[in-house]
Amino acid sequence: MTEDAAALDRALATATAVAHEAGAVMRERYLNRAPDGFAFKGRHDFITAVDGEIERLVAARLEAAFPQDGMIGEEGASRPGERLWIVDPIDGTANFARGIGHFCISIALLAGGRTVVGVIHDPMRGETFAARLGGGATLNGKPMAVSGIADMGRASIECGWSMREPVERYVDVVSKVMALGGGLYRCGSGALGMAYVAAGRIDGYCELHINAWDVLAGHLLVEEAGGRCNDFLAGEGLTKGNPILAATPALYDALSEASGVR
Ligand code: IPD
Repeated sequence: MTEDAAALDRALATATAVAHEAGAVMRERYLNRAPDGFAFKGRHDFITAVDGEIERLVAARLEAAFPQDGMIGEEGASRPGERLWIVDPIDGTANFARGIGHFCISIALLAGGRTVVGVIHDPMRGETFAARLGGGATLNGKPMAVSGIADMGRASIECGWSMREPVERYVDVVSKVMALGGGLYRCGSGALGMAYVAAGRIDGYCELHINAWDVLAGHLLVEEAGGRCNDFLAGEGLTKGNPILAATPALYDALSEASGVR
């Protein structure tokens, strides 16, 4: 094993342990949350006190394990470093806030301009999706792969949505995907949507704008599970977000045509 592979294995093991610790706190807070314990950062953009609490916990653990590394977190954590941890403490905050148990923590490590480690942990189902560059992708430690579905008429496609893009553009993509015969999902966690593509539970995930913390871990999971994604980090993707398209290789071109995401 090269030094690099050993370093990535250590990063993956640490990210997994941190995701599990944070997930246990998240689960406990979710089960005991106040029904009105949320606010809005913008239209349909939820925030809870738990988002910040989890981000601070993750930042402290990663800094202790890798003092040289930097971090970008959805809730404002920002530390420079050659390697960068990209963290969404709760992806699916709207679900968390409203009592729908479909959310996760997403942790990615960026080195040399690409994602090298990705971990997505769903504390309600006890599922951990993990990958390191060149090492394949796993679900709770077992290898996972994208589905073999090549017929859009049998495919399940999640089209993520936020107020960051005009509603008309979203409706246009949805209607084109459905005209191709795709079955539509919108479950409210982009990270879990990507993880489900990697696990072969759905066949594509598309969103016209998404942020790096929502999607980088899932991007690596999908590629390591044999799927295809657009170049999310192109341009200013890391700091300003970009469109995302992830799919089985057989469906990618048709979804790219329908969504305009290349
Ligand atoms: C959101 C979710 C949602 C996606 C949005 C994201 P958050 O992240 O991933 O599914 O459609 O684009 O902003 O706010 O729950 O961390």
